[in-house]
Amino acid sequence: MAFIVGKECNGCKYTVCVDVCPVDAFHEAEKFLVINPDTCISCSVCAPECPVDAIYDEFDLPIKQISYLEINRNFSSLYPVISASKATMVFRK
Ligand code: SF4
Ligand code: F3S
Repeated sequence: MAFIVGKECNGCKYTVCVDVCPVDAFHEAEKFLVINPDTCISCSVCAPECPVDAIYDEFDLPIKQISYLEINRNFSSLYPVISASKATMVFRK
């Protein structure tokens, strides 16, 4: 069981979620973050931090976003860990 970053992060990337994660489970892709499901301990503290509600318990992930299970797993092996927030990178209008 893990938490998942969904499509709402794409183009937002506030990164404040990162600061509360006790196990550095977030990885930074170009336009959004993902959570490594093997690192995540499902503590749930990150979800309420996200201003755009992009973080889901995997069992609450909307069916339309089911592909994000694989995206989070695959991208977390491709992109580096992000362990501290950065200046907001909102480029969505
Ligand atoms: Fe980190 Fe907890 Fe969020 Fe998992 S649920 S990514 S361990 S803060
Ligand atoms: Fe993305 Fe929300 Fe974190 S927009 S970077 S999941 S705070």
